[in-house]
Amino acid sequence: MSGHFAVAIDGPAGAGKSTVAKRVAGALDAIYLDTGAMYRAVGLYMLRNGIALDDTARIARNAPRAQVDVRYVDGAQRVYLCGEDVSAAIRENPVSAAASAVSAVPLVRELLVARQREIAAGTNVVMDGRDIGTKVLPDAAVKVFLTAAAEVRARRRFLELQAKGRAVPYEQLLEEIRQRDHNDSTRAASPMVQAADAVLVDSSDMTIEEVVETIVALAKSRVGEARA
Ligand code: DC
Repeated sequence: MSGHFAVAIDGPAGAGKSTVAKRVAGALDAIYLDTGAMYRAVGLYMLRNGIALDDTARIARNAPRAQVDVRYVDGAQRVYLCGEDVSAAIRENPVSAAASAVSAVPLVRELLVARQREIAAGTNVVMDGRDIGTKVLPDAAVKVFLTAAAEVRARRRFLELQAKGRAVPYEQLLEEIRQRDHNDSTRAASPMVQAADAVLVDSSDMTIEEVVETIVALAKSRVGEARA
């Protein structure tokens, strides 16, 4: 280890990865990289350009044009698509399905993984996604697979949307989560799987604070050991 460490947090949609990873990064004085946001930006590019989400050849041809950039403004990650800040636009519901579709295209993954490794090089990083521990940073000092029951994840999403005044039926959200789990874990290119050396954390019955404390403690002991 060259004095820098990486914490990889993988797991399915809605397990609380980004909230947790952000806080873990704060506690460890590391940068936080939400790699899902990068796939979302590429998905948004395809939607805006009318590219059918099942046309994988066209997605691959257009992928190099979808220039994705990540910058840190006041410590927070902002995502840019071809120079435009799309941090809010990528959170719209249709973009989730588009991100899932483009993330199955090998060339899209190749381009984004290379960028993710560049960002991680030479710094302390907490990265979340689906393939961080298995593919992007296989040497990460700490690997966590953060999950929760699909019903719990759908319920959390339901409450989150309700708080924003958007009533989406719970059953629909549960179905969408199951569909994305299926797509993300059965695709041929870097499917979502728990790395052999990852610690499984099931957040179904845990608070965010408990999950954060668990991961920070793990990171401190592992990084301490590696430096000793
Ligand atoms: O975590 P998220 O919901 O923002 O991710 C959006 C999509 O991108 C999701 O369907 C899975 C995919 N993804 C991926 O394949 N690999 C990653 N490292 C991160 C996200």
